[in-house]
Amino acid sequence: MSVFAVWVLSICLLLVQGSPVQKSDGEPVPLVIWHGMGDSCCNPFSMGAIKKMVERQIPGVYVLSLEIGNSITQDMENSFFLNVNEQVARVCEQLAKDPKLQQGYNSMGFSQGGQFLRAVAQRCPSPPMHNLISIGGQHQGVYGLPHCPGEVSHICDWIRKLLNSGAYTKPVQEHLVQAEYWHDPLNEEAYQKNSIFLADINQERSVNESYKHNLQKLQKFVMVKFLKDTMVVPPDSEWFAFYKPGQSIDIVPLQNSTLYTEDRLGLREMDKAGKLVFLGVEGDHLSFTDEWFNENILPFLH
Ligand SMILES: *[C@@H]1O[C@H](CO)[C@@H](O)[C@H](O)[C@H]1NC(C)=O
Ligand SMILES: *[C@@H]1O[C@H](CO)[C@@H](O)[C@H](O)[C@H]1NC(C)=O
Repeated sequence: MSVFAVWVLSICLLLVQGSPVQKSDGEPVPLVIWHGMGDSCCNPFSMGAIKKMVERQIPGVYVLSLEIGNSITQDMENSFFLNVNEQVARVCEQLAKDPKLQQGYNSMGFSQGGQFLRAVAQRCPSPPMHNLISIGGQHQGVYGLPHCPGEVSHICDWIRKLLNSGAYTKPVQEHLVQAEYWHDPLNEEAYQKNSIFLADINQERSVNESYKHNLQKLQKFVMVKFLKDTMVVPPDSEWFAFYKPGQSIDIVPLQNSTLYTEDRLGLREMDKAGKLVFLGVEGDHLSFTDEWFNENILPFLH
């Protein structure tokens, strides 16, 4: 072995020894999960499986899969019908009271859970969120609901009618979760004025400095986009991009949007600091393999 190789090796060993993969008390960083539309905290085929997988990979980790309501059924229904601002407030309260999270936590949101956890980061800085991982979250909303997960397709047909007839009316905004992140590019003005959730967290009406300040406390904001997504319209929303106003064909990438150039949310600053991570995965909405997860997401959970 050459002197150079030995030198490189010892540097590597130093780096390995010095790298803080665990907190000082030896506990792994806890993880908070927020499920998607029509799903629940504990479905053994979705969030239940994810929780188990993370627990297997990071021995001793505390994983909290959020249940919104007092039962699995309520949790699922609330993903359609409980005002998102109320959901976020409840989650903030729950996290603030959980003794296991007080040193900070990572969070991972699936589909709409991605933008909901971003609202938690922006509105509730304590306890601190370290990394935010959005798996197919729609940060610029959706303009279409082409289909819903299996058993709930009848609810979806009904929701689609409501969205098309009056997404920005007050009663629909207050009671229909998907209306609260409905983003109509043909009517940006109505969206900016009336969206009680997404337009607020995206600083469309005014700039709340604390949203900006709080979001910037994140170490990493990871956005996963499903490159063959047939459930989210447009899929570009998963990387914080959206249609150019006035039409629904051309997409403006995040970096070209006024949200970024005016830096209303601090995203440009975060991007320059290397805090934004854009990952793409081949496949339809929320389809990924364990191998992909372990290789690409697990590193952000330490
Ligand atoms: C900004 O956001 C914080 C946290 O949600 C809230 O308490 C405050 O009232 C907001 N400020 C304005 C001016 O809306
Ligand atoms: C985004 O901005 C860059 C640099 O200003 C420009 O070259 C590019 O064409 C723009 N892309 C879109 C899709 O607007």
